[in-house]
Amino acid sequence: DSSSSEQQQSILVTGGAGFIGTHTVLQLLRGGFRVTIIDNLSNSVPEAVDRVRDLAGPALSRNLQFYLGDLRNKEDLEKVFSETRYDAVIHFAGLKAVGESVAKPLLYYNNNLIGTINLYEFMGKYGCKKMVFSSSATVYGQPEKIPCVEDFELRAMNPYGRTKLFLEEIARDIQKADPEWRIIHLRYFNPVGAHETGHIGEDPKGIPNNLMPYIQQVAVGRLPELNVYGYDYPTKDGTAIRDYIHVMDLADGHIAALRKLFATEDIGCVAYNLGTGHGTSVLEMVAAFEKESGKKIPIKLCPRRPGDATAVYASTEKAEKELGWRAQYDIEDMCSDQWNWASNNPYGYQPQP
Ligand code: NAD
Ligand code: WQD
Repeated sequence: DSSSSEQQQSILVTGGAGFIGTHTVLQLLRGGFRVTIIDNLSNSVPEAVDRVRDLAGPALSRNLQFYLGDLRNKEDLEKVFSETRYDAVIHFAGLKAVGESVAKPLLYYNNNLIGTINLYEFMGKYGCKKMVFSSSATVYGQPEKIPCVEDFELRAMNPYGRTKLFLEEIARDIQKADPEWRIIHLRYFNPVGAHETGHIGEDPKGIPNNLMPYIQQVAVGRLPELNVYGYDYPTKDGTAIRDYIHVMDLADGHIAALRKLFATEDIGCVAYNLGTGHGTSVLEMVAAFEKESGKKIPIKLCPRRPGDATAVYASTEKAEKELGWRAQYDIEDMCSDQWNWASNNPYGYQPQP
């Protein structure tokens, strides 16, 4: 019986205290998996993991263990791998701020590349050769055609993007050298939203770089207005178009990817887009958020942000066909869940100052 054997499966989740990690860990626990998180809390807080435990309840929480550790530190990895045997790894841990990566390329190459290379080394050493890796639509650069299809040529626009591109290439080499490896690269488009309870969500440090957390902070009064970067793009309303995807859809995409890995001996190293296949403009997103929250979001029209593409959205065919997964939530759901999280937690996991 597959459900009882699945209960025995144990997953290492790196970066499990972060935005996508917390939502995925919750779905893993609910799916009957045992979960070990390793996170250095460089971009997250222990409270986020406590909230996952609250949502999972006491019984399922017994299946969750947390290690404070850094993937760049081999002693931390030795401890995590020697104490538990894992059936697979979901690897979220990494730095992700595009602008910061331009200013601090070495920090990004050090953290994302060294951390991941160490992780592969320990997975190999302990015979755990199944990996689900957080890649990104950033590997499509500024796509010449849309929707983005997985076999497009890859390119990157900044050091952050290059870490994802290089790590995809490294994984392909690792798998080629040892065909026992099974590796799935999930290329996320623009993750937004929060768990429907509003108990967990995204909590960026400092002033947000990304659209939805910025809108959220305007809505709760932490920031005065939204800068809309570019209103002269060749799009329906002049603003740029992205494929926003609900974080709970992403979480479920990881479960689908794990199932695929366990079921497919010869999967090799393969990439799947996780997006909705629908494009939404900045102004459409603002309007949807205003409708769901009942809050006015003042905007200021600004010049384009350097490096931004006009329109990016996913082809979802491959994930639908091979993973049996497709996004369930629409833009309204994303905005209402984001607002539920924001209004219950205007300062994220921190107490109101
Ligand atoms: P996040 O920052 O919320 O989560 C990443 C977690 O990894 C954090 O908790 C951080 O403390 C931890 N971490 C970072 N470096 C570490 C290290 N060396 N050792 C141990 N832990 C470390 O980010 P997220 O939005 O949840 O993103 C998760 C992954 O998905 C990242 O790899 C990111 O690049 C990728 N991704 C994110 C987006 C997005 O827009 N959120 C889009 C595409 C891809
Ligand atoms: C979306 C749109 C902005 C903020 C980034 C990374 C990408 C991936 C997802 C990790 C753009 C506009 C934004 C603001 C605005 N991350 N915007 N005002 O740039 O599509 O993707 O996150 O892998 O690699 O590059 O997302 O949310 O920053 O921007 O007008 O204050 O909103 O110009 O058109 P992006 P974003």
